[in-house]
Amino acid sequence: MSQQELFGNSAAEPRGDSAPAVGSKSKSRLGLIVTGVVGGSLVALYAVATPFVVPALRKICLPFVPATTAQVENVLTVLRARTGSLVDIGSGDGRIVIAAAKRGFQASGFELNPWLVWFSRYKAWREGVHCSTTFHISDLWKVSFAQFSNVVIFGVPQMMEQLELKLTRELPYSAKVVACRFPFPTWVPERIVGEGIDTVWLYDAKTFKSQQQQQETTRKTMPE
Ligand SMILES: C[S@@+](CC[C@H](N)C(=O)[O-])C[C@H]1O[C@@H](n2cnc3c(N)ncnc32)[C@H](O)[C@@H]1O
Repeated sequence: MSQQELFGNSAAEPRGDSAPAVGSKSKSRLGLIVTGVVGGSLVALYAVATPFVVPALRKICLPFVPATTAQVENVLTVLRARTGSLVDIGSGDGRIVIAAAKRGFQASGFELNPWLVWFSRYKAWREGVHCSTTFHISDLWKVSFAQFSNVVIFGVPQMMEQLELKLTRELPYSAKVVACRFPFPTWVPERIVGEGIDTVWLYDAKTFKSQQQQQETTRKTMPE
């Protein structure tokens, strides 16, 4: 009796071996696809979420909280008599910039989150104001706002003192500044409109720049 006949696996053995090999190959391909899909989704989620989380992790936490409709209306109300250039510092999804452009301003937004900037550009194009709007992916502390005659900020209390100094230094005497929800700590507002979270404060650069000059003069003339 031959060895094959003795063990009885001459024809069956190769078939039996190759069947599990095909199964495990397709299983490992499926595993690769699943790993790729899960990995890719995690990378995409990370890429989208990170720009929203980063502002909250900075020394001054300024997260994306969109202005309410009433807040936007109040901004436009206090700037009714104004024209020219306008900037929204930390422009979010561009709602203030777009609303201002619709009222005739040449409006710009500076925003750290690139997704929000791209969304703002798309919205401005869709609403037909892309020619009178510009959106920049920039850190508000690293750019100058000297060229703007109307400035809007919806910030947080922790940043207002530092921003007061920056804007006092940079803005021309002809500028007006609107603070949404949180006022500047030492500037005296010219007008206050709205209630609660929709309140906006209007400031005149002539007032806050001369206030600062007076303080500097007093400091210089005070005996040590
Ligand atoms: C309170 S939201 C205001 C959004 C918009 N101005 C509005 O009123 O709808 C503040 C925005 O500032 C952005 N931001 C935070 N830190 C920033 C920085 N250092 N430079 C520029 N933008 C910043 C945030 O991503 C967020 O979109």
